[in-house]
Amino acid sequence: MTSTTPDYAALTAQARALTAGEPDAVANMANISALLFHALDQVNWVGFYRLQADVLVLGPFQGRPACIRIPLGSGVCGAAAATGQTQRVDDVHQFDGHIACDSASRAELVVPLKTEAGQVFGVLDIDSPQLGRFTPADAAGIEQLAAAVQAVIGDTCANPQV
Ligand code: SME
Repeated sequence: MTSTTPDYAALTAQARALTAGEPDAVANMANISALLFHALDQVNWVGFYRLQADVLVLGPFQGRPACIRIPLGSGVCGAAAATGQTQRVDDVHQFDGHIACDSASRAELVVPLKTEAGQVFGVLDIDSPQLGRFTPADAAGIEQLAAAVQAVIGDTCANPQV
């Protein structure tokens, strides 16, 4: 099944609108994961991991229950956080160290989230049961959306209150 590339400019505008004026990072991550989960074709998991010391800790998401803690550098999420680079994986079975939370996941797109100073404070992870699901246009679109909202989800990720 082919997937259509969504209008990422419109999705980014929706994400901005959903989070505008709301200082609670958990609420903002929850709404962004729900927005993307329902807007993207062929995805089975959308959510956030927050970097706490050198471990990524599960944040708000949509999909099946997932791995709670991922060491920095492990799996696709850990690679994105460690390198600060988006990871677009066509076939997770070919990715050395991939962490299988849901055996249905075959492709993955992970975008690092950064502070204004460029420090990684978390990742946005999107999984799909469809091989090769994510195109360079999807990666660019999700990077654009993440860049637009990372300021409203960063504060309590970098400085967890609990
Ligand atoms: N597959 C990911 C782990 C997170 S889950 O997919 C939600 C990884 O390898 O980093």
